Amino acid sequence: MVFGVGLLVNAVLVAIPVGGSVGALLGIDAHRAATGQKPLFTGGNSDDGMSNGGDSTGGGGGHDTITNNGVQHTLYCDLSYGITPPSKTEQYTLNPNQWGVTSDSTGNGLCMNVTTLVNQTYAPQTAPEFSITWQFDHGPQTAPVHGYPNIRVDNVLPKEIDQISELNLDLHWTYGVGDTPAESTDVQALKNENLATNVAIDMFLDADADKSQNASEAKFEVMVWFWMSNEEAQPHGWGNPGISRTLDGTKFTLYTGKNDKEQYVLSWVTDVMTERFTGDIYPLITDLYNFGGSDYPAKDDYLGSLSFGTEAYSVNSNVTFWAEQYKIDIKS
Ligand SMILES: *[C@@H]1O[C@H](CO)[C@@H](O)[C@H](O)[C@H]1NC(C)=O
Ligand SMILES: *[C@@H]1O[C@H](CO)[C@@H](O)[C@H](O)[C@H]1NC(C)=O
Ligand SMILES: *[C@@H]1O[C@H](CO)[C@@H](O)[C@H](O)[C@H]1NC(C)=O
Ligand SMILES: *[C@@H]1O[C@H](CO)[C@@H](O)[C@H](O)[C@H]1NC(C)=O
Repeated sequence: MVFGVGLLVNAVLVAIPVGGSVGALLGIDAHRAATGQKPLFTGGNSDDGMSNGGDSTGGGGGHDTITNNGVQHTLYCDLSYGITPPSKTEQYTLNPNQWGVTSDSTGNGLCMNVTTLVNQTYAPQTAPEFSITWQFDHGPQTAPVHGYPNIRVDNVLPKEIDQISELNLDLHWTYGVGDTPAESTDVQALKNENLATNVAIDMFLDADADKSQNASEAKFEVMVWFWMSNEEAQPHGWGNPGISRTLDGTKFTLYTGKNDKEQYVLSWVTDVMTERFTGDIYPLITDLYNFGGSDYPAKDDYLGSLSFGTEAYSVNSNVTFWAEQYKIDIKS
């Protein structure tokens, strides 16, 4: 029985890339970096990512919107802005979520380019495309992350994890140098620009349903990394690998640690850049509750939120992240 969501992001596989797609997200006070930095904005901001900051098409609010034949491209360069484009199908919220940017941060900044349909009629299971173009110089060593632009699944969670049977993903993303989406990820070209980032799903879990939806209060943060560009962007517990599991031919290795809020951060990290992934990642959750004990979630804990995006650390020149396709289907 499907209770959930099907969130297919984008998808036109044409020769010319159209900008990006999706990802989940968490509001600003929601996401904490893998390195455990405090969110910069805890409430009081115009939007915490939990509410709708956009107008009826997801644009507006003084944002630059180009409209062409019922298709709108809107650029959001805000530090935090919840974009919940009205949709007659699945609902999701996008957010530039630049929670680590301070008055001392330097660089070209970060903008999220979201494509919406004026008629609000997306193809089944299809979310708006998006891409993210950014460049930041190194932040201080204690606060290297500038943000986690992402897309979050709405209306499906919280859900007890033992009431979920599958968490199917169908994913294709790219990262490239420059201001437009790349057709494929040229790792060497990005290394030459000293890119420090990851591409990851970010989930929060707790025994309490309300806390599981609050990234500051949830006991567990569980991440699934599809790329770690270099060791500057490393998960908690790096250097001390745990168990591994292979899904869809992709090997994920578990790293565990605690952040500065004493939350347990459990990260499954691929050892190679994984642009495409099609498969059920639910076994990565069952492995955790099968460990037992208080350092791991229990099977009757709640999954409160699930987001997909990229953590922006630093890079020499502009890079663009494009989630060409993001489909998530949570089955109970
Ligand atoms: C936003 O993305 C669309 C589709 O890829 C592109 O046509 C448009 O130029 C982009 N806008 C900006 C400001 O980059
Ligand atoms: C909605 O708008 C898009 C873009 O203009 C168009 O391709 C699509 O056919 C429209 N859908 C409906 C049901 O009108
Ligand atoms: C670089 O990215 C920023 C943020 O998306 C954008 O405002 C800027 O126009 C891009 N290009 C240059 C040359 O800075
Ligand atoms: C999340 O928890 C923090 C800390 O208790 C609280 O300040 C914040 O308002 C909560 N956020 C939401 C969206 O409930």
